[in-house]
Amino acid sequence: MHLARFPRLHLAHLPTPLEPMKRLSKELGVEIWIKRDDCTGMSTGGNKTRKLEFLMAEAEAQGADMVMTQGATQTNHGRQTAAFAAKLGLDCHILLEDRTGYEDANYNTNGNVLLDHLHGATTEKFAGGHDMPGEMEKAANKKRAEGRNVYVIPGGGSNPTGALGYVNAAFEIIGQANDSGLRIDRLVHATGSSGTQAGLVAGMCAMNAQVSVLGIGTRAPQPKQEQMVFDLACKTAVKLGCADVVKREDVMANTDYVGKGYGLPTKSGIEAIQMFAELEGILLDPCYSAKGAAGLIDLARKGEFKDERVVFLHTGGAAALGGYDFAFDHQNRWVTV
Ligand SMILES: Cc1ncc(COP(=O)(O)O)c(C=O)c1O
Repeated sequence: MHLARFPRLHLAHLPTPLEPMKRLSKELGVEIWIKRDDCTGMSTGGNKTRKLEFLMAEAEAQGADMVMTQGATQTNHGRQTAAFAAKLGLDCHILLEDRTGYEDANYNTNGNVLLDHLHGATTEKFAGGHDMPGEMEKAANKKRAEGRNVYVIPGGGSNPTGALGYVNAAFEIIGQANDSGLRIDRLVHATGSSGTQAGLVAGMCAMNAQVSVLGIGTRAPQPKQEQMVFDLACKTAVKLGCADVVKREDVMANTDYVGKGYGLPTKSGIEAIQMFAELEGILLDPCYSAKGAAGLIDLARKGEFKDERVVFLHTGGAAALGGYDFAFDHQNRWVTV
C-alpha cells in the first residue's frame, strides 16, 4: 500500500512505541501490550496527530489561512488541531459544544480549553444539541465572506483523509509485530467519531493482517457506532484504491462502557485510570481512553481474551485530566463519580 501518494506533513513522532504492560498483564492474567499513540507529539500527543498529518497537508495544498473544527468542550481533537495550526502559522477557530452540562470552572477553562487558547486558537461555545457541522459551515462561510480561505475539519478529524492516519498506524503496528516476531491477536481501543477504527480496519483488511480490531464505544449505541465505522472504513478503502476489502463483520464495537453518556466519567473508567497510573505509570483520560481501558479490563476479567495477545491502542487524552479533577477524590485518592 502506497500512502506516499497522498499529501502528508510528517510532523508526528513516529513510530510510537509498542511495549509490554507487564504489571497490568499479571494483574489480569492476559498478555497485554500497549501502542503508545499518546506519544505522537503535538501538544502532548494523541490519536489526532496522525489524522492531522493528512488533513493539514490538504489544508496547505488548498492554500488555507485558517482551519476550523468542532467538538465537545474538552475536545482533544480541537487542542491538537490548534497546536498543528500554530506550527503551520494558520489561524484556528474551534466550536465547542456543551455535551455534559458541567458548570465546573476547571471543566470549562482548564485542561484542553486552556491549551486551545495557549496555542492561539479562538473558541466559541454552543449549548448541547446544536447541529454542530451546520454551525461550523455557517461560521466558515462568514469568515469566507470576510476574505479568509478556511479549511473545515470535521469533528474528530474523521473523514477518509483523516482516517489515512490510522491506515498508516495499522501498517506501523504490523511492521513492528513482524520485526519483533510478535503475533497480535486483538487490538482494543476507544472509538468515538470513528476515524481511528475505520482507518485501522481499512489498513488491516488491505494487508490481510488477520488482527481483530475491537472499538470500545464512548458515545453512540452499538449499531450506530458500528455503522459509522463501517461506512467510513469503506470510503477509506475506496480512497486507498482497494474498495470491497472491508467486510461488515470486520467492524466490532462494544458500547457497554459508555455509562450515562458522552464525556461523563464512569466508575469503571476511574478504576482503569487508577490501574494504568499505578501499575504502568501511564495516564488515561476519563472521556475516551479510560472507557476503552475499562472495556479491556472487564473483558479480560471475563475471560474474553483467553490465550490471546492483546494490544491496547492508547489514543491519548490525558491533557483533559485537569478539566476533570472533580471526578477524583483527592483525599482518599479516587473513587467519586
Ligand atoms: C483520546 C481520544 N481517544 C479516542 C478518541 C476516539 O477516536 P475517533 O474519534 O477517531 O473514533 C478520541 C476522539 O476524540 C480521543 O480524543
